[in-house]
Amino acid sequence: MSDEYREDGLYPMRLQRFLARAGVASRRGSERLMTEGRVRVNGQVVTELGSKVDPVRDVVTVDDVPCSIADDSIYLILNKPAGFLTTMSDPMGRPCVAQLVPQDLYPGLYPVGRLDTDTTGLLLFTTNGDVGQGLLHPSHHVEKHYVALVQGTPSRHDLERLEAGVMLEDGPAAPARAELIGPGDPLFRRVAPGGAGHDGAGNPNAVVGLTIHEGRKHQVKKMLRAVGHKVLALHRDAFGPLTLSRVDEGSWRLLTRAEADAVERAAGVRG
Ligand code: URA
Repeated sequence: MSDEYREDGLYPMRLQRFLARAGVASRRGSERLMTEGRVRVNGQVVTELGSKVDPVRDVVTVDDVPCSIADDSIYLILNKPAGFLTTMSDPMGRPCVAQLVPQDLYPGLYPVGRLDTDTTGLLLFTTNGDVGQGLLHPSHHVEKHYVALVQGTPSRHDLERLEAGVMLEDGPAAPARAELIGPGDPLFRRVAPGGAGHDGAGNPNAVVGLTIHEGRKHQVKKMLRAVGHKVLALHRDAFGPLTLSRVDEGSWRLLTRAEADAVERAAGVRG
């Protein structure tokens, strides 16, 4: 097989890159699948990590399921409702986001990062493993904007601590942007449709906007807890260049070409 450019624009490529682009797993996950002997090329098990494949002519299977690189990467956003796990399958049969996106239409679709089961809002899906990984890589500083209904009202000092980089159990959080969101703002109603209510001591609860670029587990809840305010409801309304425009809760839509280009740029896979 030669390394020459072909009319179809696909070069022979490393098998782990092919698997990642096919949306099977991250590149590291794909390497693991290979070393576990679960990947075959034209019927032969391939465990050697440097092996190359012809993306058009070779038949690649993982656990005997064929996989291929779609002509074009697929990107879609879901407006996730509460009560769904961020996973493509759950052995315990609990509701998961896979039920809300057209995975039959777009094999290899997977969520980029995760939202907690009780968190609502913007969840990006793609078939392009490189873009998914690029968006989550800390060096790319992709911003996410969250809106949180919290117990009590954070003081100016609390917001400044969040902005300076509050200390969490596993080390300091990177500096964030934090602001109080007033009841006139449509984002307020996303997390407090019936009003923000009061905490146990009769103090008014508040809605906080937080922009972060890290993605540690339960990060927003931990950051707000660290300044003394428990999160009662959490919604993500922006992820990198994407916002939730034109997607109702529980629905999805494909990205426009301009949005897909912006996502690829944010992931560092496009100039
Ligand atoms: N931070 C959290 O605490 N939960 C989420 O779902 C997302 C970010």
